[in-house]
Amino acid sequence: MKVESQKSIKGFSKLSKEAKIEWVVNNYTNNPELSTSLLKSYWHEELSIQKLHDEFIENTLTNYYLPFAVAPNFNINGKMYCIPLAIEESSVVAAAAKAANYWLGRGGFKTSVISTTKIGQVHFIWKGSDKTKLSEFFNQIKPKLYSQTESLTQNMRKRGGGILSIDLRDKTDAMEHYYQIHATFDTRDSMGANFINSVLEEFAKVLRSEIQLQPWSDIEKEIQVVMCILSNYTPDCRVRAEVSCPIQDLDGDILSPEEFAYKFQRAVRIAEVEPYRAVTHNKGIMNGIDSVVIATGNDFRAIEACAHAYAARNGQYASLTHCNIENGQFVFYLEIPLSLGTVGGITSLHPMVKFAHDILGHPGAEELMQITAAVGLAQNFSAVRSLTTTGIQKGHMKMHLLNILNQLGACEDEKAKVIEYFKDKVVSYNAAVAAFNKFKS
Ligand code: MEV
Repeated sequence: MKVESQKSIKGFSKLSKEAKIEWVVNNYTNNPELSTSLLKSYWHEELSIQKLHDEFIENTLTNYYLPFAVAPNFNINGKMYCIPLAIEESSVVAAAAKAANYWLGRGGFKTSVISTTKIGQVHFIWKGSDKTKLSEFFNQIKPKLYSQTESLTQNMRKRGGGILSIDLRDKTDAMEHYYQIHATFDTRDSMGANFINSVLEEFAKVLRSEIQLQPWSDIEKEIQVVMCILSNYTPDCRVRAEVSCPIQDLDGDILSPEEFAYKFQRAVRIAEVEPYRAVTHNKGIMNGIDSVVIATGNDFRAIEACAHAYAARNGQYASLTHCNIENGQFVFYLEIPLSLGTVGGITSLHPMVKFAHDILGHPGAEELMQITAAVGLAQNFSAVRSLTTTGIQKGHMKMHLLNILNQLGACEDEKAKVIEYFKDKVVSYNAAVAAFNKFKS
């Protein structure tokens, strides 16, 4: 295949930021001047803040804004929170805030941390045939795995965390000659990726050097370490959030409290048994969770990957929330693994992340897990409430109306007129365009 040679470059990362921009806009845009001024208009005026952002990643050209909002009135275990949310999707913040208000007068959110264990693995190949030899060897070197990593784990141990267990796992049923060191960790308030990965790499060194000292054949003395890496699947770093109230205290909008409770429960049940619905249902939960995770500087990719693996833990993808109605009581709850950190990473660097932690009262990781789970549950409550009562589009399109008007280039006066016009009407794209044309000045 012929490659356009002028569109490839060696040493791009070594160029200055200005030179990087020049190369990109000249090679990949139709209007280099306009593109350059667009990119520069997103630079922060404060040089030190811009430098900070430039250095978070490689090849930075500019910044990428997401709206940063708050949802006030979250009563979680009797404490009031104003929760920071970073997200681009209209109606997510409104839905979170609405659910917070709804449950404020009904006892609020009850949350608890179930467990906080993280996992890391050294994946290796051993071609010996006598497996007992390997397991005896592992038991013999196990104390060394702890002692050789003492300098790495010292600070974590001081904070009450560290290595919880180290096991040898025989995975040869799944793949020929495949074994693991499977270790569990408590990383306290940090997400712990660097800590875990450093410890695992040290384990691998011990493994490789100690096996050389065994009086075994060459084949038995060879360990091929494939990789050392934490697992983002942390089913035992899990949190629960719940809301509950007597059925008669529910407000079912256009439905009676009883009708609403049963219709809501059935909708959740559908997400428990039907994967196509479950994915959308859980996506709604992640709308809330990701928004807090991003605002607080945590890794939303890790949180997403883990949540969906957990949702499929029984062999079929299913809802992360559940609803019970017993003895006249409506109970709606979420259980989800959330490996979050409140120290390390960008938590003490990114000014907006620092602000997010500030308004949350500088929670530790366990408190942040509970706050985040409450927002996930709130989001799901609002979505399922709308779906089972008025339908989702009513609220959704109202919020989306502003995006449509912005796309059409409406001025503030035109926006106000169109929004007023839709107060008692159903919003659609075509209807919004027609109304805009009608009120266009
Ligand atoms: C949209 O972002 C999320 C929802 O589709 C979630 C759901 O259907 O439960 C409204």
